[in-house]
Amino acid sequence: MKNTPKKAIIIGASSGIGKALARELIQNNYRVGVTGRRKEQLVALQKEHPKEIYIKAFDCKQEDALDHIEALTDSLGGVDLFIISAGVGHINPNFDFNLEDQTNQLNVIAFTLLVNWSMHYFRTKGHGHLVTISSVASLRGGRHGPAYGASKAYQSNYIEGMAQKAIQSKLPIYTTDVRPGFVKTAMAKGPKMFWVSSKEKAAKQIYRSIQKKKRIVYITRRWILIGWILKRIPWFIYKHM
Ligand SMILES: NC(=O)c1ccc[n+]([C@@H]2O[C@H](COP(=O)([O-])OP(=O)(O)OC[C@H]3O[C@@H](n4cnc5c(N)ncnc54)[C@H](OP(=O)(O)O)[C@@H]3O)[C@@H](O)[C@H]2O)c1
Repeated sequence: MKNTPKKAIIIGASSGIGKALARELIQNNYRVGVTGRRKEQLVALQKEHPKEIYIKAFDCKQEDALDHIEALTDSLGGVDLFIISAGVGHINPNFDFNLEDQTNQLNVIAFTLLVNWSMHYFRTKGHGHLVTISSVASLRGGRHGPAYGASKAYQSNYIEGMAQKAIQSKLPIYTTDVRPGFVKTAMAKGPKMFWVSSKEKAAKQIYRSIQKKKRIVYITRRWILIGWILKRIPWFIYKHM
């Protein structure tokens, strides 16, 4: 007999890593609430798994975002695992403020609202696991899309603060900061991409790190090496890159 399914919400699962993770969680006996703005993509995913998938279409930047999340949580009957995959990034060679602002509104402002909601929810419930998808780009500033790297640095730093809070609460609340390199999705952009992973492989590795309650994980695993090098490239070289 199958165990009672666990319950997860993935913010930003209408495509890409979030969608692949939804499929991975379902294979591992989860009931999954998925969100995104493109309702038709969510409906198509629900058609694949009508019993396991619950959908809610909304924009995380809108004022009513938390109403939608609460409604989704109620329809799932609670949530044990809250994953924030929604994110945006622009290559911005002309340094257009509007593009920088779009990135910050979602990756910083809306992100903070979502983290805040989930941590309060888990504290009230007494347990839970928050997973955020930042990036290897969080490790250094980058001229191609300055707001993207900076917003991802904010996410990684913010989730470290949440990890401290979780530990000091003495409750079984966990956080995982997922730092992908390149994953083959609509979002993967960059002048020179390498070590590009499939969404499915990324989702499997992310799921394993969730099971192990890892605090930080690089996807795929070998990106830890790039992270290590990136942090150590001296400025006199980095400034020309
Ligand atoms: N792919 C990579 O190489 C890579 C590398 C490092 C980090 N990441 C990070 O991984 C995460 C997932 O990206 P991805 O590669 O899977 O790209 P993706 O396929 O473009 O997925 C982005 C998801 O975010 C949702 N989203 C975007 N804006 C939203 C908004 N305002 N409100 C609600 N949902 C919104 C999208 O749904 P709708 O468009 O339907 O709203 C979509 O489901 C992002 O945080 C990204 O920064 C990706």
